[in-house]
Amino acid sequence: MVQLGKENLFPIGIGTWHMGDSPSKRNQEIEALRYGLENGIEVIDTAEMYGEGNSENLIGEAIKDIKREDIYLISKFYPFHAQEPELERSLENSLERLGTDYLDLYLLHWKSSTPLEETIESLEKYVKDGRIRNWGVSNFDTADVEGMWKLKGGENCTANQVLYNMASRGIEYDLLPAQKEKSLPTIAYSPIAQGDTRGDNIAGNKVLQKIAEQHNATIFQIMLAWTIRHHDVLAIPQSSNKKHIQENIDAQSIKLSEEELQLIEKEFPAPKRKKPLDII
Ligand SMILES: NC(=O)c1ccc[n+]([C@@H]2O[C@H](COP(=O)([O-])OP(=O)(O)OC[C@H]3O[C@@H](n4cnc5c(N)ncnc54)[C@H](OP(=O)(O)O)[C@@H]3O)[C@@H](O)[C@H]2O)c1
Repeated sequence: MVQLGKENLFPIGIGTWHMGDSPSKRNQEIEALRYGLENGIEVIDTAEMYGEGNSENLIGEAIKDIKREDIYLISKFYPFHAQEPELERSLENSLERLGTDYLDLYLLHWKSSTPLEETIESLEKYVKDGRIRNWGVSNFDTADVEGMWKLKGGENCTANQVLYNMASRGIEYDLLPAQKEKSLPTIAYSPIAQGDTRGDNIAGNKVLQKIAEQHNATIFQIMLAWTIRHHDVLAIPQSSNKKHIQENIDAQSIKLSEEELQLIEKEFPAPKRKKPLDII
């Protein structure tokens, strides 16, 4: 389990970017989301940006018969909506599309030109009135979180959602350690490198193939098990395929040995110097 604020959550959720955009895939996507929630997934990640509301609408339909308290719903607002009245309108629209009266976590999607202190003040207000239970940020690098912690209310940030996978380990240099020190949880997006379509050729790696074989697992499951290996990162792989969702759930119980972690380290080494934050 991974702790996010006061919640202890199953460390693998479902991301929903590009879901809800295609009418012909709608039923399959709804079934996939329901399947995940019925089989151990708690976290669903979305954003007002995803299909300009299509993803939130799809989720709203998928969860309408599921007990709300069994789901941990994350949505995000555009940086150019980070100021009232736009921010409040974004929140209301997300709640309406999702068919709920609260979000568990509301994230600033990436850095905004609106002073963060102002955004935090609004978010704290929505926490008080119950429309959100927690707020957080996304795509914040080390200097950004450090700046945030100096602001009034900044220490109430509940998570930073950033790109993190075996082939993209830049955050391990100083962002993860800084967050660990302040107990700020990390949510890993693109944890399986978008199905290995980013040119890293992870699936072709012989060492990983062998490790996957030994666990009777796929390389994607090994990538997920690796991402959550320290029990302090929550991964949100996107999938609209029930079989993949079951595999992603099962990845939680794959324990990589010290020897396997060292082999992976050789193939996909941790950064030795600061790298700019990877962003998709
Ligand atoms: N905060 C941000 O700025 C930001 C940016 C990017 C993404 N995100 C969030 O993070 C989520 C995940 O990232 P992502 O969508 O970029 O990439 P990802 O989760 O790394 O990869 C998604 C791809 O992997 C495939 N897949 C999933 N499970 C699989 C499995 N077990 N075996 C084989 N293929 C599998 C999916 O296809 P199938 O549907 O066929 O399974 C899909 O094509 C997004 O959906 C979104 O919610 C946030």
